[in-house]
Amino acid sequence: MSAPIALVTGASSGLGAEFARQLAQADHDLVLVARDESRLRELAARLHSEFGAAVEVLPADLITDDGVARVSARLAAPGAPISLLVNNAGFGVAESFERSAAAQEIAQLRLLAQTPLELCHAVLPGMLARGTGRIINVSSVAAFIPRGSYGAAKAWSVSFSRHAKLQYGPRGIKVTALCPGLVHTEFHARRGGRLGRVRPWMWLKAEQVVGSALADNAANKAVSIPSLRYKVLIGASRWIPDRWVAAAANS
Ligand SMILES: NC(=O)c1ccc[n+]([C@@H]2O[C@H](COP(=O)([O-])OP(=O)(O)OC[C@H]3O[C@@H](n4cnc5c(N)ncnc54)[C@H](OP(=O)(O)O)[C@@H]3O)[C@@H](O)[C@H]2O)c1
Repeated sequence: MSAPIALVTGASSGLGAEFARQLAQADHDLVLVARDESRLRELAARLHSEFGAAVEVLPADLITDDGVARVSARLAAPGAPISLLVNNAGFGVAESFERSAAAQEIAQLRLLAQTPLELCHAVLPGMLARGTGRIINVSSVAAFIPRGSYGAAKAWSVSFSRHAKLQYGPRGIKVTALCPGLVHTEFHARRGGRLGRVRPWMWLKAEQVVGSALADNAANKAVSIPSLRYKVLIGASRWIPDRWVAAAANS
């Protein structure tokens, strides 16, 4: 029997590269998507030599129509069907909303909400026809708290994943929104700007975050919040006035 194939967006670094590593270790073949082709090729060679995975490299800019169309075509291709889609590519605008460039805001919203929508839309019909499939939409704890346009865009994944789990779960599709807190990746350096006062305990490791996400998706959970500390924080934030939550998140 051929290995299941996972397509991971934003696979050139951080959580995406870790998803690719853990999935290759769990006997998946892979399609790796990001803009930086040389990093994807390096990772593909490593995963092939370490785990024997067959790895396709699909360079694409997922804030362009052409990039999204090429990845959508791969997701819908019947020949070597995709069993697991990880919508992970992302970045955050550092400037506050009133100071940022509108074009940057629109690119962020596209990458964090419209692109995952389009890729889910491309992969679902085939998964439903096969009666099986898995989707992980990488969101953030920012989806649950007042956290600017980034949090607003990330809320799309949570809302949609909760709906899709109910709608498509009975038809064999497992859909999960992954909502991590702060993770050691390239995200914060790329974003620039001020991160606020971050206590050491707030940092999570990519390995742990991805391990929880894969386990929660396999268990058919709609929302995955890795680590007890963030589960407690997000649970508590429901009972605390928004201005206190926002102040704590920005401190
Ligand atoms: N790190 C955190 O603290 C944290 C917390 C909560 C949620 N998240 C979310 O986790 C996800 C992964 O981020 P990360 O922390 O792993 O950051 P990262 O190390 O900066 O990785 C981001 C990935 O997205 C890709 N990407 C960015 N823009 C793209 C575009 N236009 N088209 C295609 N790919 C693009 C990057 O690859 P290329 O540059 O090669 O295109 C890279 O592979 C993001 O959705 C982020 O919002 C991160």
